[in-house]
Amino acid sequence: MDLNLNGKTALITGGSRGIGKAIALALAQQGVQVFLNYLRNKKAAEAAADEIEAASGQRPLLFKANVGDQEKVQALITELKEHTDQIDFLISNAASGVLKPGLELTRRHLEWTFEINTYALLFLVQAARPLLPQGARVLAISSQGASHVIPDYAAVGASKAALESLVRHLSVELAPEGLHINAISAGVVDTDALKHFPAREQLISNAASRTPAGRLTTPEDVANVALFLCSDLAEMIHGQTLVVDGGYRILA
Ligand SMILES: NC(=O)c1ccc[n+]([C@@H]2O[C@H](COP(=O)([O-])OP(=O)(O)OC[C@H]3O[C@@H](n4cnc5c(N)ncnc54)[C@H](OP(=O)(O)O)[C@@H]3O)[C@@H](O)[C@H]2O)c1
Repeated sequence: MDLNLNGKTALITGGSRGIGKAIALALAQQGVQVFLNYLRNKKAAEAAADEIEAASGQRPLLFKANVGDQEKVQALITELKEHTDQIDFLISNAASGVLKPGLELTRRHLEWTFEINTYALLFLVQAARPLLPQGARVLAISSQGASHVIPDYAAVGASKAALESLVRHLSVELAPEGLHINAISAGVVDTDALKHFPAREQLISNAASRTPAGRLTTPEDVANVALFLCSDLAEMIHGQTLVVDGGYRILA
């Protein structure tokens, strides 16, 4: 299906692995020029660029920056401006966070988690605003912990709840400028991120067995919804969080 995205540009934060890489790949295959941000793992970023180039014929440029640091985000956008004067799709996907019970969390744990998972969206929109044309799409990636309790997920869950709220508020502020800001809330996706969960195996097997659709959500499932939200088909969707989890979350 031609989604009419050919020739557009996208910045994907945390685009070197997992869900971000799948979104970058899906956009590149639609003819979008993609710019990938990563933080620490250059090898993975280069491998993602290889994979995207092989699949789309275009090699993405890589930008190392901590999106939780406002100055680094500004520097990233300044560097990006040397290569494009427009960002049609701004995908705020990178995330991190401290996995601990709520009562063990310190101020620094919360600050670290919120800076990367929540503030980054605001830093990115503020810095990139001059480059966002009428009709631009901003997407944030959220998770079930925004609305449900997951063991050791207090900091990340709270940061994602704040992220979804920020999406709604920014959406109303910027819709008059023709900007669309939405979130995708993914089910459990077996990426490197899960390696940090103490009960990874249990989390995966529980999600797989309880999901009405009969399988885990994949990075490609999330990327397909990102494509939809970036397309003209989603013209009237503003400030929403779309859940992509095979029906897992609607179970009692
Ligand atoms: N996996 C799941 O089950 C799941 C479910 C729901 C929602 N999500 C959300 O989906 C998004 C992607 O998750 P994932 O599972 O694909 O993660 P992942 O596989 O762990 O990949 C994380 C990516 O983010 C980058 N990154 C981390 N901290 C960064 C920072 N401060 N600045 C810039 N880049 C940074 C990493 O780059 P380096 O490798 O260079 O550090 C990497 O590219 C996140 O928002 C996550 O919360 C995931």
